[in-house]
Amino acid sequence: LQICVLFLYFVSSHEEKVKLSRDGVRKFPDEFLFGTATASYQVEGAWDEDGKSENIWDHFTHTQPHLITDYSNGDIADDSYHLYKRDVEMMRELGLDFYRFSISWPRILPSGFADRVNEAGVAYYHNLIDEMLKYNIEPMVTLYHWDLPQRLQDLGGWTNPLIVDWFADYARVLFENLGDKVKYWITINEPAVVCYYGYGAGAFAPGVDASGIGEYLCAKNILLAHAKAFHIYNDEYKSKNGGIIGISYSAQWYEPASDSSVDIEAAEVQSQFEWGKYSHPIFSETGDFPDVMKEKIAAKSAEQGFPRSRLPEFTQEEIEYVRGSSDFFGLNHYTTFLVYRNESVYGVHPVPSFYDDMDTGSYQDPEWEGGESEAVKIVPWGFYKLLTEIRESYNNPPVYVTENGFATYIGLQDEGRVRYYREYLSALLDAIDEGCDVRAYTAWSLMDNFEWTKGYTQRFGLYEVDYESPERTRTPRKSAFVYKEVVRTRTLDL
Ligand code: NOJ
Repeated sequence: LQICVLFLYFVSSHEEKVKLSRDGVRKFPDEFLFGTATASYQVEGAWDEDGKSENIWDHFTHTQPHLITDYSNGDIADDSYHLYKRDVEMMRELGLDFYRFSISWPRILPSGFADRVNEAGVAYYHNLIDEMLKYNIEPMVTLYHWDLPQRLQDLGGWTNPLIVDWFADYARVLFENLGDKVKYWITINEPAVVCYYGYGAGAFAPGVDASGIGEYLCAKNILLAHAKAFHIYNDEYKSKNGGIIGISYSAQWYEPASDSSVDIEAAEVQSQFEWGKYSHPIFSETGDFPDVMKEKIAAKSAEQGFPRSRLPEFTQEEIEYVRGSSDFFGLNHYTTFLVYRNESVYGVHPVPSFYDDMDTGSYQDPEWEGGESEAVKIVPWGFYKLLTEIRESYNNPPVYVTENGFATYIGLQDEGRVRYYREYLSALLDAIDEGCDVRAYTAWSLMDNFEWTKGYTQRFGLYEVDYESPERTRTPRKSAFVYKEVVRTRTLDL
């Protein structure tokens, strides 16, 4: 009952607020930017063309196809490597200010190292960027969206501290080659997913199953790698090229499942472990991993007989190197979870595990609308609360929403996605009205694409892609027309 009462309270108080602002048309700030996003492995295809080497997703999908819902892979995907002009045409149809895409590390550096730059790979990105710039669409470039060269994974990937230099060398090659055309850089996409799914749960490539250890090694290295790329850009390229550089977090909203103090604390713990782990070191005044994480992991490690905490430490010098190393808070947000203290696993597991370290459990209210897909529930007030939390915790940093979107199955009449975008954009405007410095919004995704272990079964696109046709025909969904209207008018007509 308590849970219900609390939930109704939140819903009603928020709904009141939304109603108030719903009279008529709501305007976005003048300088606000609209875009859409994709990522290299999810759309490019051409997996072994023109000198590109194998990446960890090529390897993962080729060696363990049964781990992908429809046994598919990104060998061809949306074939954007060949169809990029059609992609740019869609950006023009939507009237976008910018397009966020990522660069395939092994397409640029086939050995993984910066010993030899693959000119054909560099040329592909020049062609794409030039085509966009022709129509005043700004590139927002992600350096790493999960497709590590397999060769570097064979050497430990993100758990090897040497990757800080490997990544820095790769970043420099990109700044050097594309720096005069790119004004928005994102170093790492969703470090939490890279580290937890890749090196903790092992559900995503490279599939390392070492929960409670792997993701923490990865976390430290990826933060240092990000910081090094940031400093290289800041010190050597920024004044010349005038761009900005940041990092993108996957941050969902974690709402206490009840008003009991243990659940309130659990929600805070979950937030700190999931995204605070990567944002606190960069955006807080003190830097470093959040205290609650350090304390809980140290205590659990001691209980389990480890001679030291499983969470690696930063030196004071590293703390300062990482702190402040982002020009903006890149936010990938999709949905909300209800969090409770999970007494049942507390202290029971002798084996380290990220979830056991948190002592929390989470679920989604079955009443929340999820459309055809269970992947994303429509909970716009969670987005509003998250934006407010970011403003309050980190002294109102500029926020670039670098992903937000909704999954469906095939079909052009995507009413659920339309509702999702309208509700989330409205929540974003609520946050802006209260002073959150949100500067950009990115719909995930421009078009359907390879949704990692879900293959092509989950569709996030404003454009539907026909995977039966060799041309990978792209057709706008209803949501594409709705988004286009928002972008054209710079308003949300409620
Ligand atoms: C976050 C990831 O960055 C992106 O690659 C993925 O497709 C979307 N979320 C949807 O799950």
